[in-house]
Amino acid sequence: MAGITITGFNHIAYPISTRHHTLPMYRDILGLAVIPSMVDGPAVIWTQMEDGTMIHPIEAPEPGKSAGFHVAFGVESVPDTIASLEASGITVNSSGERHDGQEFAFINDPDGNRLEFASANDRKSHNRVCDEWGVTSEGGGTPSRHQKADAPIRLLSAEHAGVPITDRKRAVTFYRDVVGLEIIPSMVESETITWLGLPNGSMLHLVEAEQGDAHTYHGGFVVEDFGDAVTTIQQLDADNIRIGERLDGRSALHFDDPDGNHVELVSNNQTRSGHRVADEWGYTRDI
Ligand SMILES: [Fe+2]
Ligand SMILES: [Fe+2]
Repeated sequence: MAGITITGFNHIAYPISTRHHTLPMYRDILGLAVIPSMVDGPAVIWTQMEDGTMIHPIEAPEPGKSAGFHVAFGVESVPDTIASLEASGITVNSSGERHDGQEFAFINDPDGNRLEFASANDRKSHNRVCDEWGVTSEGGGTPSRHQKADAPIRLLSAEHAGVPITDRKRAVTFYRDVVGLEIIPSMVESETITWLGLPNGSMLHLVEAEQGDAHTYHGGFVVEDFGDAVTTIQQLDADNIRIGERLDGRSALHFDDPDGNHVELVSNNQTRSGHRVADEWGYTRDI
């Protein structure tokens, strides 16, 4: 069996209230390109960073009710992934193919977090177009892409996703042995975060938290200019602004989006490694 070959993140989904309330921050401040959605559900907005990785803000099904978060890994083959998951006793909740030929499958991790596996975008041609709010329809002509040239911040790629867990060994066993991610040394002074690497250098951070702690869930995105990002977010007066320095030399800026979702922006410098080692459960020490 070919197994699960992860290529990186395909997208990171964020549950939002409404697009008019929250999309302006992602589009006009963080500089994401709004592209046509390849799903039929009108609540899902497709946006894209510079390297093609996507963020999907998803509107609440009704006021006060969250769509819920999920992380989507990119994989070489969705059928091989499904076969491998099922061989490991994992139930695939739904699967299918999108308008651009992208295949997908959803499962839950051992904590009930929703996880998606998706093949590459644009596997076949389509006619879908969208407006600057991501409202998508069957159209024609050239595909539409809406990006603010003067956005003060530019997101380059997804550096990591942070996912809440309650039982470290159970979660690590799943993500390491079933999904196939690699334990790597943690570069923060915390015993409650497990770092795992994806083959493209992106990371998954498992964060021990109270069950259902939606604020623990976050994406960490590399920005072109970290100093500009800090100035911009401070001027916005976003909630829960926190700036930190990691042991690998990268800086991180945390803040909340207009719906209280946790967003992290990471500096674009080379990382420093080799001075820390992790055991099989990700517990890390200096050497
Ligand atoms: Fe998704
Ligand atoms: Fe993070």
